[in-house]
Amino acid sequence: MLAENRSVRFSFPNVIQLVKLNTSVFVLALCLALCLAFGGCEKSPAPKFRLNEVEILKQEKASLPQDEHFAESYDEEINAVLTSLFGTPESPKFPYLEGDEDEAHEFVNFDDLKWAAGRVHSDREGRPISGLYREHCSHCHGITGDGAGPTAAFLNPYPRDFRLSKFKFKSTPLRRSPTDHDMEMILRNGIPGTAMPSFRTLPDDEIKALIHYVKYLTIRGQLERMLISELSSLEGEPLMDMSFVPDGDLVAALVKLEADEDSDDEEEVEPTEEQEAFEEQLDYVLNELLLEGPLTRWSDPEDSVTEIPEVPEAIAASHPDHAALVDKGREVFFAKGNCAQCHGETAMGDGQTASYDDWTNDWIKSAGVDPTDKKTYKDFTDAGALKPRAIRPRNLRLPVYRGGGQPQNLYLRILNGIEGTPMPAGATLTEEEIWALVAYVKWLPYEHADKVKPKMVNNKAIAR
Ligand code: HEC
Ligand code: HEC
Repeated sequence: MLAENRSVRFSFPNVIQLVKLNTSVFVLALCLALCLAFGGCEKSPAPKFRLNEVEILKQEKASLPQDEHFAESYDEEINAVLTSLFGTPESPKFPYLEGDEDEAHEFVNFDDLKWAAGRVHSDREGRPISGLYREHCSHCHGITGDGAGPTAAFLNPYPRDFRLSKFKFKSTPLRRSPTDHDMEMILRNGIPGTAMPSFRTLPDDEIKALIHYVKYLTIRGQLERMLISELSSLEGEPLMDMSFVPDGDLVAALVKLEADEDSDDEEEVEPTEEQEAFEEQLDYVLNELLLEGPLTRWSDPEDSVTEIPEVPEAIAASHPDHAALVDKGREVFFAKGNCAQCHGETAMGDGQTASYDDWTNDWIKSAGVDPTDKKTYKDFTDAGALKPRAIRPRNLRLPVYRGGGQPQNLYLRILNGIEGTPMPAGATLTEEEIWALVAYVKWLPYEHADKVKPKMVNNKAIAR
């Protein structure tokens, strides 16, 4: 009896163990079966650059009858052209068109690209060998630099989509590229009041590599947009006959064509019509689009840097003329500068609040789209666009300045405006008026609310 009892007591855990063992064998077998079914047990597949489907949809809606689409071959063609010129996220390339690699290296350094691209990987000492962008940036900005990484939808403002080639906080005027130094400041300081973090702790050479990678993604994305817009006028014709590029290298094909033209070979065979058409298309894409477009835009941004005049001493709150400068600034803010139109009578950003930034305007201006009505924009969000959100003018009662709070930073913002946003350039303002506005903007967080909404007498703001 006793023995029987004992056996019952001890057999219970055994059953559990047996079940556990069986379960693990089963799970193991299931994993094995799944692995085999889905093509082996390798690491997850390498990420690819994502096609700009929002731009494709936008161009389709602009140029084709309702519900018609571009030829399916266009997707492949865009991918083939872009891969030929820029490689893949694992193995980037950069087109050196003029044959002058040294010059090209100055604005996009190839070694830096390789360092920033690819999988996150480091050596024994923990120093990164590759994957800087994927480690630090892609969860927000996306592998493609489309600003649609996995966390993007939860952030406001959204992470930047680099493909439009617009940058907000820079020392150059609207429609000019930022300098490397501008981007370095963004990476070191982050953008206060947004999710864009500071990468102050990264060593200089890693920051530099990341800057070059952002430029690479920007140039690639800009060319992609241009190619897509070209397609809208081709009515199903191919962009370029890729059968003339057997190894898929467009730059090599162009170099070869040019060498053939230069050679004095008497026995040269007349090119066929198709070959001539191909030459024309190749020349157009590489020279007219890429070289004249993004590559020119990104060369020497230093030449267009805005000169900042000396900061007036009265900007300092302790200076005897400070109050007069602030008064002058208040006047310009409400009258000539028209700042209250957007930033509001209270300066809290509650003026004109139903505007959209350029990244959103880019597609919500398509026919039939109403950014406040989901039904009308669903096609675009299905294609990868983020839900449209209005951009609010800044609340200037809070001392948080995205582009930096130094008087020089604010001078640049007010003089040049903020690219891609409704914040306009103060083209008609004098240097003196801009400094007065800087003084007023810096004073606003400390000014009593009663004083902000002024009475206007003869176009002069009377606040005290
Ligand atoms: C947690 C999310 C996040 C991460 C990580 C992140 N960013 Fe950003 N980034 C943003 C957001 C949000 C903005 C847009 C801010 C705005 O529009 O004011 C931005 C803007 C930018 C801009 C545009 C600046 C300008 O002047 O317009 C650059 C360049 C940039 N990021 C580069 C990077 C790089 C390089 C990395 C990786 C080293 C990185 N970001 C990592 C969220 C992020
Ligand atoms: C048409 C609307 C509009 C007008 C007019 C306007 N702003 Fe803005 N302003 C904006 C918007 C929108 C932003 C936010 C841009 C962003 O960072 O995305 C902004 C941002 C700013 C910032 C924040 C800069 C930073 O680094 O964070 C300052 C300062 C500013 N505006 C000052 C002014 C002044 C001074 C005037 C008048 C000369 C003015 N604004 C006129 C819309 C406007």
